[in-house]
Amino acid sequence: MIGGDMREKEIMGKGYVGNKSAVFPLQLLGYDVDPINSVQKFCFNGLEDLSGYPTFKGQVLNGQQLWQLIEGLEANDLLYYTHLLTGYIGSVSFLNTILEVISKLRSVNPELSYVCDPVLGDEGKLYVPEELVSVYREKVVPVASMLTPNQFEAELLTGFRIQSEKDGREACNLIHAAGPSKVVITSINIDGNLLVIGSHQKQKGQSPTQFKIVIPKIPAYFTGTGDLMTALLLGWSNKFPDNLEKAAELAVSSLQALLQRTLNDYKSAGHDPQSTSLEIRLIQSQDDIRSPQIKFKAEIY
Ligand code: ATP
Ligand code: MG
Ligand code: NA
Ligand code: MG
Repeated sequence: MIGGDMREKEIMGKGYVGNKSAVFPLQLLGYDVDPINSVQKFCFNGLEDLSGYPTFKGQVLNGQQLWQLIEGLEANDLLYYTHLLTGYIGSVSFLNTILEVISKLRSVNPELSYVCDPVLGDEGKLYVPEELVSVYREKVVPVASMLTPNQFEAELLTGFRIQSEKDGREACNLIHAAGPSKVVITSINIDGNLLVIGSHQKQKGQSPTQFKIVIPKIPAYFTGTGDLMTALLLGWSNKFPDNLEKAAELAVSSLQALLQRTLNDYKSAGHDPQSTSLEIRLIQSQDDIRSPQIKFKAEIY
């Protein structure tokens, strides 16, 4: 798993972004995870770095250093992985190295599933350099097994404007045509709701199974939800490989329980949840991650 975070809102938001909100849930679901932090921020060897917040301090791993890590693993015969998950990547050179990592890992395990959260931006605003968009579009998306863009990212990667549910499904079709057999657009803003649209193309060239999950939008801004969502989708879709709608129901149900807990915690501490971005209550939500109650149902089209 490779990720990090230098999105400004996340730095200001402090904690649960990038690997930090993805590793723990995957471990809870029983996976053995090797995290690679492309950005070492507040957490190093498990110890919170108490200095320098909100000033950013830490190291940024460059492509060459990532490659050295891979060579070290290879020298020890440790390159067999079943899944690769990537999140925020801040530079073209790092992204290009990821592409090399993918082909390296697939030379060891041709079945490796690559889950790509193409973190580019949100609500019309890019938070990565613009030149990353075409690299994702031309080189990364084609090799991904599952893609989890938000609305804006799906638009950037397809060049197709999403203004309705139907557009969301069409964007999924375009993404399938580019490569990934599983697509989950993790949120489309429609009429005060968040719409999750999922699409699973079980055979190349066949029409996909598509579904939606409607989520009432909570009037608050949470950090780390996108990363957590992708991790949960990976975790559950590996347990239910032919049932993306079930994986999505489980992921969304966990996430919503966790967001409610987060919201309640802030409220009971006397904070106005709309005045700041909320840190998700991950550790406190272990039960909801391990065994979510399905309260959000997928509607299959
Ligand atoms: P990020 O902006 O953190 O990169 P993202 O844009 O990739 O995230 P989203 O699609 O915004 O990810 O959110 C992922 C999931 O989190 C959504 O599917 C939804 O379940 C949940 N979520 C996020 N914010 C809210 C909210 N305000 N109300 C309800 N659910 C939310
Ligand atoms: Mg979002
Ligand atoms: Na997303
Ligand atoms: Mg995201």
